[in-house]
Amino acid sequence: MVSIADVAERAGVSPTTVSHALSGKRKVSDRVRARVEAAMRELGYVPSRSAQNLAIGRTRVLGLIVPDIRNSFFADLTHGVEATAIRHGYNVILCTTGFDHAREVDYLAMIRSRAVDGLVYAAGAPPTNSQLGALLGDLPLVLVDEEVPGANAPSFVSDNLDGGRLAAEHLLGLGHRRALVIAAEGGLVSSDLRVRGFQDSWAASGAEAPLVAAGAFTEEGGREAIGPHVEALRGEGITAVFAVNDLMALGAIGALQRAGIEVPGQVSVIGFDDIPAGRYAHPRLTTVRQDVDELGRRATTALIAALEEEPAARPDRHVLPVSLTARRSTAAPPTAQGKADNRG
Ligand code: RIB
Repeated sequence: MVSIADVAERAGVSPTTVSHALSGKRKVSDRVRARVEAAMRELGYVPSRSAQNLAIGRTRVLGLIVPDIRNSFFADLTHGVEATAIRHGYNVILCTTGFDHAREVDYLAMIRSRAVDGLVYAAGAPPTNSQLGALLGDLPLVLVDEEVPGANAPSFVSDNLDGGRLAAEHLLGLGHRRALVIAAEGGLVSSDLRVRGFQDSWAASGAEAPLVAAGAFTEEGGREAIGPHVEALRGEGITAVFAVNDLMALGAIGALQRAGIEVPGQVSVIGFDDIPAGRYAHPRLTTVRQDVDELGRRATTALIAALEEEPAARPDRHVLPVSLTARRSTAAPPTAQGKADNRG
């Protein structure tokens, strides 16, 4: 296979000069360029993309860090990022962190030392903003799904505050007045905003402040968070549960059903994401829908634009709308349905 070195020898120049003639990174004289092009023709040399990219200090590979691809939300986000990257001629290196802070920091440190041109980062247990800056240096970065407060990078997130409001207003509209919120532990901005949106809307109705439990952003996390409150849900008139993601909502529904509590007959449950598992659950899950494909597409397009155009991307916060998808896991509370109350 003809190499850059063969072309250089035939043209009587150095391999570096051939790389500069290929990349345009440094100017070469017309006479030298003519000798290089003649040598390429005579030898039948075809520059490989990796040679071209390396010649200009690029790999056309993007890093993608996400917390948990067992959660189809992140699987779909990964698909959206990769599909967009491939359309633009880039490949993707995927790292999953399991919401583990130490693992997340290790991957951030590793990704900078790997031949990637930039990073799309869906934080699960992020470092502080200053630590993030120290770990990544000047590596082009776009945040998706989860904000890192103070980070000097553009972010693409769903309107989590409005999503919490939509969940509250759906339940209030059905007649619920006492609720339990299942938040995600770890102080994630997405969860905090969903809970705040729900609480603000709930308070504005004059209803009693909801109970708040916390768990991991997983089905088990939802099951474990609701466990200590099952009796309150059975006997103290709490008739509604809002979980800050669908997996937690499905875990909570399973725990309620195992305790003999009907969903939605005795307790209504609403989630957040609109993952496929919720569409085929029993009962089918009411949820707040995120446009995960658009999140992935917008974040990746912004990163590639920052790599290929000037100036560097501004650290703007891009908020994508969410919508309510009402299904069978929510209904009017028992008393409003004329059924026996929760104590029955
Ligand atoms: O399901 C995972 C959750 O983590 C999603 O709601 C996503 O937005 C992030 O908050």
